[in-house]
Order: sequence, then structure tokens, then C-alpha cells
Amino acid sequence: MNRMKVNLDKRSVQSYEIVIGRDFMDRAGIMLAQGGWASKYFIIADSNVSALHGRRIQEQFSAMDIEIDMITFPAGEGSKNIQTILGIMDGLLASGADRSSGLIGLGGGVTGDITGFAASLFMRGLPYILVPTSLLAQVDSSIGGKTAVDLPAGKNLIGTFYQPRMVLIDLSLLETLPEKEFANGVAEVLKYGVIDDLELLDLLETGKEKLLQKDPEFLEILVTRSCRIKKGIVEIDEMEKGIRRFLNFGHTLGHAVEAESGYAMAHGEAVAIGMIAAAMLSERMNYLTASEARRIEFMVKTLGLPHRIPGELSVDSILSRLKVDKKKTGHKINFVLLKSLGVPFVNGGVPQELVREVMEELRR
Ligand SMILES: NC(=O)c1ccc[n+]([C@@H]2O[C@H](COP(=O)([O-])OP(=O)(O)OC[C@H]3O[C@@H](n4cnc5c(N)ncnc54)[C@H](O)[C@@H]3O)[C@@H](O)[C@H]2O)c1
Repeated sequence: MNRMKVNLDKRSVQSYEIVIGRDFMDRAGIMLAQGGWASKYFIIADSNVSALHGRRIQEQFSAMDIEIDMITFPAGEGSKNIQTILGIMDGLLASGADRSSGLIGLGGGVTGDITGFAASLFMRGLPYILVPTSLLAQVDSSIGGKTAVDLPAGKNLIGTFYQPRMVLIDLSLLETLPEKEFANGVAEVLKYGVIDDLELLDLLETGKEKLLQKDPEFLEILVTRSCRIKKGIVEIDEMEKGIRRFLNFGHTLGHAVEAESGYAMAHGEAVAIGMIAAAMLSERMNYLTASEARRIEFMVKTLGLPHRIPGELSVDSILSRLKVDKKKTGHKINFVLLKSLGVPFVNGGVPQELVREVMEELRR
């Protein structure tokens, strides 16, 4: 089992542990209870994950005589809205939650974002723990305390920074994850390789077969390495004022495409397209070489991720969505571009016409 600490110097918590391993779900209850963060716990899980993995944790708490309840919501990005949060609040109140209660977010990135957001608001803040069950959540969204829900105008437009007390990553939970969702998480691993860790990029390239076969040791290496990158960045820039913005590589266009598809396209899939777009913009603005830009596109394709904007999506509508992106400052849309592989930077001066040109090319 690998353990690493996220060291923060302020805000909700000083530091918390990320535990990464395999087959420890039967001990998860005791590992969580040992933290002593609350006197009563509520598992927050979506309809898929609650049925697959919720009861196991619930039974462990009950066996220790610790009160535990489960609140569920329909699976999918469509649930990541304020109505779900209000539903969770009602559920908490109806089950007698108070300020000594704690939440356990068991699920993918949607569940983690929802749980963290609800925890940050209920009675002005409850402790929460994350048990991420999708690859995307294990390598990315469970670390760093960004919580959010979507508005019809765009993704993650309401949210808070609110750190969990612990993150428990059991790789065996990925065994029930659908293939499409697995690929979704691979996109975020690729992102770390492109913006920060060229060895990881090489590993993805040479270890593609191991990845597709979900080789346990290889997966553990990828997840541990990704978590280390994410936690390192969060430690330096918890509030996303500087280098944490690099993690949004591929996300500016990705979020707009994802929202424009009505969330039919998954987060990682849209980010994959967004990474190709960011690479093309970087190349056209004379930062990235053509061969580096091509390598990113090649990797996206090799890893089985979509590399084109679906033809039915309108470039104009995607452009309008870019204008409400929260990464925008004033009238500028900030793109994370690359000076070279492993060297990202934020550029607010990408001409809109160039963005349109790249999108039209990617839609063919
Ligand atoms: N907070 C952050 O820093 C951050 C970072 C990246 C992404 N996100 C957010 O994460 C969300 C995407 O996360 P996601 O892709 O995990 O989506 P998700 O939570 O909707 O999970 C995807 C699907 O997989 C299912 N699932 C999850 N784990 C499973 C398992 N072990 N077995 C079977 N089914 C399982 C879920 O029920 C769901 O249907 C987006 O809303 C995105 O904005 C947040």
C-alpha cells in the first residue's frame, strides 16, 4: 500500500492522506473510522456505485456500531446540479445529520464533486472522505478539494474549495468500471504526461498493452504517479491562482464540447479532443513543434480516445460556451498551451479566429 500526504498550510485542513492499494475494501470501514472525524457517517453514492460497493462499507461501520446511512442519486453528469445538492441536504436532515456528522463520497468524479460541495455547505461545513471508484476520480478529481455543480450555462460554475480528510484509492474497485469510463480516466493520465512527466508519457506509449489489459502493477504505477503530480501541484497552489491552472490543459475546449454534447460525451473524452486542440493552437502560435503536436494526437488515438469534435456539434455554439468558461478573465479566454512537451503556460491572447479554425479542422 502506498501512502502520501497532501500538505496544505491553511483553509479547511492542514494535510490529509491519500492511500493507494488494492483489495482493501473489506478494511475500508475501519480505516475510515480510525480517523474519528465524525460520530455518524453518510455515504453519498450514485445509483450504480451504491448498488455495487455501498453496502460493503455500510456493513463494516454497522459492525463497529458506528451509525451510517446511505444517500443515493441517479448516476451521471446530469445529476451534478443544485437540485441534487438540495436533495442530499433534505436526506441529511431527515436522517438526523448534525455538525458532528461526516460524509463519505463513494464513486466517480461526479459523486466526489457533489459530496465535497454538499459537505462544504451543510451546517457551514462537515468533514468528508473520498473513496474514488472511477479511474478519473482516482487519478485526478478526488485530490485537491475542488467541489462543484453545473449550471445549464456550463460546467462547474458553482463550487467551493474544500479539502477532504482522507482519500482511499482501492484499485480493485476499477474491476467493475465500464470500459468507456476507464478510457475516460486514461485521458487525465495522458494529460499529466503531457504537462509534467515525460517519463509517464513514455510509459503510456510503451505500456499501452499493459494498460489496456489493466495490468495491476502497471495501473498502480500510473495511479500513484498521477496522484503524486496532482498533490504536488495542489500543495503549491491550492486555490488555483497559478500552476494549478496547468491541470486545465485540454479542459477549456473540452468543457465546452462536453456541455454542448449535452454530456453525451464524457469528461475525459472531451478533454482528449481539447488536448489535441490545445496542441494545435500551441503549434500554430509557434510554440510547439509539429512533431510534438502530432505525438499528442497520436497518443490520444492510440489510447482509444476520441480525436474529433462530433460533426453534429456547432462550432458557433461551442465558441459561445467558451465565453462563459470560468477560466476566462475579463474578455480573454485563457487557454493552457505548451511551449514544449512538459512545459505548459497560460495564454490569454489566443485569437478567436484561430480557435474557430482549429475547431473546424477538428470537426472534419
Ligand atoms: N474536482 C476536480 O478536481 C475534478 C477533476 C476532474 C474531473 N472532475 C469532474 O469529474 C466528473 C467526471 O468524473 P467521472 O468520469 O468519474 O464521472 P462519474 O462520476 O459520472 O462516473 C462515470 C460513470 O462510471 C460509473 N462508475 C464509477 N465507478 C464505478 C465502478 N467502480 N464500477 C462501476 N461503475 C462505476 C458511475 O456510476 C458513472 O455512471 C466531471 O463532472 C468532472 O467535472 C472534477
